[in-house]
Amino acid sequence: MMTNKWSMQPLPEMDESQFEQWQALLESRTGMRVTEQRKTFLQTSVGMRMRELGLSDYQNYYNRVSQHPPGGMEWTLLVDRLTVQETSFFRHQASFDRVQRFLAERSDKGGTIEIWSVGCSTGEEPYSLAMLAQETLQDSGCYFGISATDISAPALAKARQGIYSDRKVEALPRERAEQFFTPLEKGRYQVVSQLRDRVCFSQVNVLELSKTPMHGMDLIYCQNLLIYFRRWRRKEILNRLAERLAPGGLLVVGLGEVVDWSHPDLERDRDPATLAFRKRVSG
Ligand SMILES: C[S@@+](CC[C@H](N)C(=O)[O-])C[C@H]1O[C@@H](n2cnc3c(N)ncnc32)[C@H](O)[C@@H]1O
Repeated sequence: MMTNKWSMQPLPEMDESQFEQWQALLESRTGMRVTEQRKTFLQTSVGMRMRELGLSDYQNYYNRVSQHPPGGMEWTLLVDRLTVQETSFFRHQASFDRVQRFLAERSDKGGTIEIWSVGCSTGEEPYSLAMLAQETLQDSGCYFGISATDISAPALAKARQGIYSDRKVEALPRERAEQFFTPLEKGRYQVVSQLRDRVCFSQVNVLELSKTPMHGMDLIYCQNLLIYFRRWRRKEILNRLAERLAPGGLLVVGLGEVVDWSHPDLERDRDPATLAFRKRVSG
């Protein structure tokens, strides 16, 4: 990190029009809404990056970032700092219980079960799905593959490595931890390669789902991503995801993340502990 006189000074206040510019840029490129309450977070994250670059003017930095296309290095780095990547293994147990019932039922049909974790962050969610699929399908003769996507390239790089702290891994039931992780030095653990090989990570912006090849998915799991988006956008994305489901496939969304969405080809699950939709076989 670059150190200079500027790096020692307090951050200047981002004025309202600058904040609005940053808000608009982020929302148009990622869908994420940074509300007024999260202005400090935005200001601190942008300011920290500017310090690293030795810059002191928000406008100057904004011009530099906005003039380059989203694929550029600076945007990639910044978007990683501005997205919330909090996650954990088996984060919402009731949703994973629902997935387990679905997998057990789906395995009767045989073949390959295609799973997609949308907004997978640093990998805990797709690896949880992989552990569950491995446990549920092991004697079924079914194969499974997991696609895991996120907008953040640094989060995906961590996910591909599959290395986690002892705090995260030791919170799992001991049998799972022993079966699916190898201890490394310094209290870290790595997901075993047999499980890592089942998960294919790739960078996908959910605002650009038309560019992705995923279709015919048996299970789409999308949690704690849509909450950062406006309601109309959440519905748009769910409509696109619904199109990617195979007949009989299951879409699992975070509880309460969408309240008034329905789709003609999908039937809402009755279980009130989860928010899940099943694609009609004739749909
Ligand atoms: C809070 S994490 C959720 C992780 C995981 N799904 C879970 O429930 O634990 C939200 C993730 O969504 C990703 N994200 C935000 N905007 C996105 C977009 N437009 N396209 C794809 N991923 C996005 C972030 O990078 C972050 O990793």
